Amino acid sequence: MLGTDLVDEFRSQKSEVRNQIIPTDIQNLDITSSDSVQKFVDLKPDLIIHLAAYTDVDACELNPHKAKQINSLGTKNVALACQKLDIPILYISTDYIFDGTKPAPYVEWDTPNPINIYGKTKLEGELWVKKLLKKFWIIRTSGLYGKHGKNFVSAIFEKAKKENTIKIVNDQIGSPTYTKDIAYAIQKLIITSKFGIYHITNSGWCSWYEFATTIIKIAGLQRQNTGLKILPITSHYLKRPAKRPRNFRLSNFMWNRIFGKPLRPWEKALNEFIRNNK
Ligand SMILES: NC(=O)c1ccc[n+]([C@@H]2O[C@H](COP(=O)([O-])OP(=O)(O)OC[C@H]3O[C@@H](n4cnc5c(N)ncnc54)[C@H](OP(=O)(O)O)[C@@H]3O)[C@@H](O)[C@H]2O)c1
Repeated sequence: MLGTDLVDEFRSQKSEVRNQIIPTDIQNLDITSSDSVQKFVDLKPDLIIHLAAYTDVDACELNPHKAKQINSLGTKNVALACQKLDIPILYISTDYIFDGTKPAPYVEWDTPNPINIYGKTKLEGELWVKKLLKKFWIIRTSGLYGKHGKNFVSAIFEKAKKENTIKIVNDQIGSPTYTKDIAYAIQKLIITSKFGIYHITNSGWCSWYEFATTIIKIAGLQRQNTGLKILPITSHYLKRPAKRPRNFRLSNFMWNRIFGKPLRPWEKALNEFIRNNK
């Protein structure tokens, strides 16, 4: 999902990145194979942007070995290959490395304490990058949606077609983020060469329930399904395999310090996404 939008962003006329982009996927580069990674890194790119991950949070909980192989050891393979040739990495991490108990947004230097396997293995990925490399960006982002993958927005569209009552949790709060906006932020950041850890999301926050009601309102889904109702529930009611942090708000402290202003509010980004992809 993010990879496809990132390639489009880099190749767009307005992009400030003028380098050649070489997109890959699991068919031609499996990060769990160090040989496969090495062959690719031997092309000596100026930078590797590492987005590959086992991203299904509940599936990670049920398949912890696979999650470790891809998210943790796969990232170790990428970092080791980059170490040999002194190639910087930009690694995408997640809000789920935090436990969600902080009563305020998480800043870049807060102590991680993941509560599910996805978060734990993505944090291990971060630790490999930090341990093996001097030149790296770790970007933690949150609640991504975009036109190329399954995500919360596409799930609400699907549900609204088939169901009259949609139940959504009201006790997990964070910042939904449009892949196009994080892609824009990534290209701004890499041309600064200011390495480090960054939290980058659209600005403002909401619960998943508020997010769902806003999607329905902007897309006018109640005009297509007049009986559509959306009900707030608590996480306890859902009983999913993986626990989720209640507070996944990320303060974009470092981004704001460098660029002086936050990314646009989540409502504005969502509005553009729905208008362009309805
Ligand atoms: N989605 C979110 O809300 C969110 C939030 C925070 C951070 N992130 C991070 O953002 C990054 C991009 O995620 P996304 O949302 O764009 O999800 P995505 O569409 O699932 O992208 C992950 C990609 O990694 C590929 N992959 C899986 N195993 C691989 C392997 N062994 N070798 C090479 N590629 C492999 C997947 O291929 P297959 O589809 O064929 O398995 C998929 O194309 C990930 O690192 C994720 O952890 C996502």
